[in-house]
Amino acid sequence: MTREYLMCPPQHFAVEYAINPWMDPAVEVDRELAGKQWELLRVTLTDLGHTVHVLPARAGLPDMVYAANGAFSVDGTVYGARFRHPQRRSEAAAHHRFYLDRGWTYIPASETNEGEGDFAYVPGVAGGVILAGYGFRTDPAAHAEAQEVLGRPVVSLRLVDPRFYHLDTALAVLDEHRIAYFPGAFSTAAQRVLAQLFPDAVLADDADALAFGLNLVSDGRHVVLNSAATGLAQRLAAAGYRPVAVELTELRKGGGSVKCCVAELRPAPPQT
Ligand code: ARG
Repeated sequence: MTREYLMCPPQHFAVEYAINPWMDPAVEVDRELAGKQWELLRVTLTDLGHTVHVLPARAGLPDMVYAANGAFSVDGTVYGARFRHPQRRSEAAAHHRFYLDRGWTYIPASETNEGEGDFAYVPGVAGGVILAGYGFRTDPAAHAEAQEVLGRPVVSLRLVDPRFYHLDTALAVLDEHRIAYFPGAFSTAAQRVLAQLFPDAVLADDADALAFGLNLVSDGRHVVLNSAATGLAQRLAAAGYRPVAVELTELRKGGGSVKCCVAELRPAPPQT
């Protein structure tokens, strides 16, 4: 199945502040290399047959390349982001404009949430469930708000390790009903909830998770993931998926990888 994605080029990418443990403003970023790596990710997705929309980057927003954080959509309705940190706050407006221009139903958020960074959608479980992370960025109040806006059950999962500050650094949806995750990023109760809902999940270990392996994009068959996560790639292949490795060393310096750079757009299903 072909998918629709949104990406934003790293034209103004930089590590100028530290809002997650991976960011160190003292470390040099090679913006040209970041651009090449980003372009290769974009081409990888289009070569797989998917549509990638590009949101123009804005000066003064060095984290805007992490397009996943700008919103979260299900069946043509978009729940807007409201960033925790002032440095990223104006990114939400750029995403808002993108959806408005294309006629999507966009509902702005009253509660703090970072879009697909902390929300994931599993279409094939119980008619469609939303998995939602909290503990570092998104407020639990946004989980209830997302449920009201999107009309899907939201399962709240508490993140406990600051290195995995967004849900998408520790959990990924692989296909209609299957996920991959790193249990250590979640509270004991959340681990139990995940084990109950997803007994067939692909489990990642510390090394996979620390290599940003779970920050992946899957179309249900091909799984595009960070090339450093070799163990996870093997586990995914053994589970029947086709891992496609991409190198994103520069964007990792901002605390992100494949999924952070890619927002999935979920339009309304075609009317029959
Ligand atoms: N530097 C960005 C931040 O800390 C990275 C965001 C990564 N995005 C993601 N979806 N996990 O906000």
